[in-house]
Amino acid sequence: MLHYVTTNEGKVREAEEYLGDDVASVDYDYTEIQADSLEAVAADGARRAYEHVGEPVIVDDAGLYLDDFDGFPGPYSSYVEDTLGIERVGRLARREDATSARFRCVIAYCDGEPFEASPEPVDTGERRGQDLAADDRATATTDETVQGRDVPVKLFTGAVPGTIVEPRGEGGFGYDPIFEHDGTTFAEMDAEQKNAISHRGRALAKFAEWFQGRTA
Ligand code: IMP
Repeated sequence: MLHYVTTNEGKVREAEEYLGDDVASVDYDYTEIQADSLEAVAADGARRAYEHVGEPVIVDDAGLYLDDFDGFPGPYSSYVEDTLGIERVGRLARREDATSARFRCVIAYCDGEPFEASPEPVDTGERRGQDLAADDRATATTDETVQGRDVPVKLFTGAVPGTIVEPRGEGGFGYDPIFEHDGTTFAEMDAEQKNAISHRGRALAKFAEWFQGRTA
């Protein structure tokens, strides 16, 4: 059984369309590392989740990237949502005429086994502690920083371009109300419509196709 490790119900709803009954969601709240790439955060999360669950896991890390702000808030989207809030991020982007944006999503899969070469990247943990924030590195024990980092993790990415607008819509989660794609915000779409074009939908579609082959 595949386990989708997340505390975000919104993500689970979107994943069910691709993974159906083959996936169980696991509500495991671990402390994410700080790193300047979603790939590093997702790969580390998948290793921790696999250590915790002991069966195949996926975790997903996503973020909003403002093109004219060099990708801010990107991997720090969660912190910025909690501190500034999406309405202020939206106002800031519009005031600075920096409304061109994209969502990115990285799905990281780990089952403790190595992977065949394929177009999708494998994170082998070679960066070890390098991407950890200094504070994290200083407080982490040897076990936390090194143990399990050589377990390979397969990564699947998806992105979608859009425009930052005034909040509209009641659906979705996170930054969805201020992210417009083709005239509609993600919060105005139902899960099926959002999946058909979203960063997470694209990453999940790639993962689901590859995973079928792995389990066949
Ligand atoms: P995480 O991937 O759960 O760490 O989310 C990072 C940040 O991006 C959080 O603030 C989420 O609310 C936000 N986020 C992640 N995925 C989406 C999405 O599909 N739509 C809107 N916001 C998202």
